[in-house]
Amino acid sequence: MQVHTTTAAEKSTPPNAETCEPLRFLTCGSVDDGKSTLIGRLLHENSLVFVDHLAALERDSKKYGTTTGTLDFALLLDGLEAEREQGITIDVAYRYFSTKRRSFVVADAPGHEQYTRNMATGASNSDLAVLLADARKGLLSQTRRHAIIASLLGLQHVVLAVNKMDLVGLDEGVFKHIAEGFATFAADLGFRTLQAIPVSARDGDNISTLSTRMDWYGGPTLLSYLEEIEVDDHRAARPFRMPVQLVSRPDSDFRGFAGTVADGRVLVGDGVAVLPTGRTSRVKRILNVSGECEAAVAGDAVTLILTDEIDIARGDMLTAPQERAQVADQFAAHLVWMSDERLLPGRSYLVKINHGTVAGTVTALKHRIDVNTLGRMATKTLSLNDIGVCNISLARAVAFDAYSDNRDTGSFILIDRYTNETLAAGMIDFALRRAGNLHHQQLAVTTAQRSQLMQHKPLVLWFTGLPGAGKSTLANLVETGLHARGIHTTMLDGDNVRLGLNRDLGFTEPDRVENIRRVGEVARLMSEAGLVVLCSFISPFRAERRMVRELIGTEAFIEIFVDTPLDTCIARDPKGLYRRALAGEIKNVTGVDQIYEAPQAAALHLKADGTSPRSLADQVIACVMGRVLP
Ligand code: ADX
Repeated sequence: MQVHTTTAAEKSTPPNAETCEPLRFLTCGSVDDGKSTLIGRLLHENSLVFVDHLAALERDSKKYGTTTGTLDFALLLDGLEAEREQGITIDVAYRYFSTKRRSFVVADAPGHEQYTRNMATGASNSDLAVLLADARKGLLSQTRRHAIIASLLGLQHVVLAVNKMDLVGLDEGVFKHIAEGFATFAADLGFRTLQAIPVSARDGDNISTLSTRMDWYGGPTLLSYLEEIEVDDHRAARPFRMPVQLVSRPDSDFRGFAGTVADGRVLVGDGVAVLPTGRTSRVKRILNVSGECEAAVAGDAVTLILTDEIDIARGDMLTAPQERAQVADQFAAHLVWMSDERLLPGRSYLVKINHGTVAGTVTALKHRIDVNTLGRMATKTLSLNDIGVCNISLARAVAFDAYSDNRDTGSFILIDRYTNETLAAGMIDFALRRAGNLHHQQLAVTTAQRSQLMQHKPLVLWFTGLPGAGKSTLANLVETGLHARGIHTTMLDGDNVRLGLNRDLGFTEPDRVENIRRVGEVARLMSEAGLVVLCSFISPFRAERRMVRELIGTEAFIEIFVDTPLDTCIARDPKGLYRRALAGEIKNVTGVDQIYEAPQAAALHLKADGTSPRSLADQVIACVMGRVLP
């Protein structure tokens, strides 16, 4: 790491605003630190070309294949595409200004409670972070937190603006103390450059003109530093990557693969490997917005036409054949949790990665990172603004890079399958290969053969409902009836399973998710054995009931909603659960302090209040017999 505390002496050829890519930077700090004053000064003291808010940018102002001299507004949009598609509001304002030497895009992420989400959004589009500290307050945990998040998000350049120097008598000692403290703290964060600058945003010291009041400071102004800094990460020299965003097939003769080159360069005639399949081909033509071209480099939006007819879909990745991206169905990753809904390991989410969407679950949540100390904290969930480290398992293999190699091809988002809400931003650490060594073993006796022997089809009956709704009573009556009719059955019941297989699980949300995940797997094994499996579980969350249904397959699954009003369940209270919960003796009781998400379209919706269990059981038995007999 290069730490500048005095001067950025090594002056290279000054960048020129006309020919350079804009410097994209993020400002972090709270209003109290003087962030708006600082941004305001930067904008207004300089030849302001254009100030705007992201919302005002029209989608069609996006220009593909930017060359020199024009600002590519796509820059502002690309990183946010995923979130925009989800229709969520992002609280990040992007402003553009330009001096004679360079143009800038400032991402201003407000510091309120959703700061990690805003910072993550802003940082994914930035090269550098300006962290604000208040000279009077010194190094606060907030500044440390921002630095840690910036580092996790792959920002390599940091400026610490020590503001309000006028309020500490422009004292060198105060500045040095803060700057050195920060340099020590940040030593492990992997920044390539770190520059501390004493400023007064209010009075304009060291913002765009050098302060005459702080002679002891021999370094650059904030603006001159931003004008000078070299942030080029030589992306064009790296192996070629292009996630396919669109397969365009206007007629049967033309098939092009459109996307933005994420890394490296590609020339007409180059070989490419298509991942995850691994098929190879050659680039026949490259098209950009102005027509045919010979080459494309990182950042260019292009359409490639290949020499071979191979199957390529959105979400696949074109890569250099000799230096391919990774392909796996499991990886370790950092997650920045952005939702009020908590993370539930074991729940099925959608993972959106490199323009593809695939179902995935967090299989192991290893720890949460304490953003004040970088310490690892044990946890079973992540809440809003938490950062955690986990393993993720996908329904199929996808292509990606480590986030440290490429911030585009190494990132993903997690989406809720029901609300479509973006839950988290993810950064891939490395692929996990374990699953690659496991192969499904073909069994000699098939489920169909077992079922033939039993003379009926297998089926999973899933009884869901509040505690005390009468699920177990009903399931017992149904099993007795089926057994008497010669059906081979077995019963999985909440209390019993929790005394054995799931004795390590309690009643928190994450534990209930895991409870149902395991039960689902057991039910599948038993139905594959040919049995009619009766499962009686509160199973309060629709996401897990859906997961089991997908695991078993809709044709062999019946969801039975034992719909008894809460008042009736409380009045019955066969196990005294409600009494204890209402007396405050126990927590996490469904219907009292935990939610029950009633099924909206259960195959059988039994209004259990007032109807005798026997007649309800007869309804279920009739339905089952209709389904299982050949
Ligand atoms: S589930 O929510 O994970 O599906 P499950 O059906 O396995 O729950 O277990 C419910 C049984 O556990 C109930 O029949 C009840 O006897 C017992 N139990 C103990 N504590 C609780 C609690 N806090 N909430 C619900 N059930 C509880």
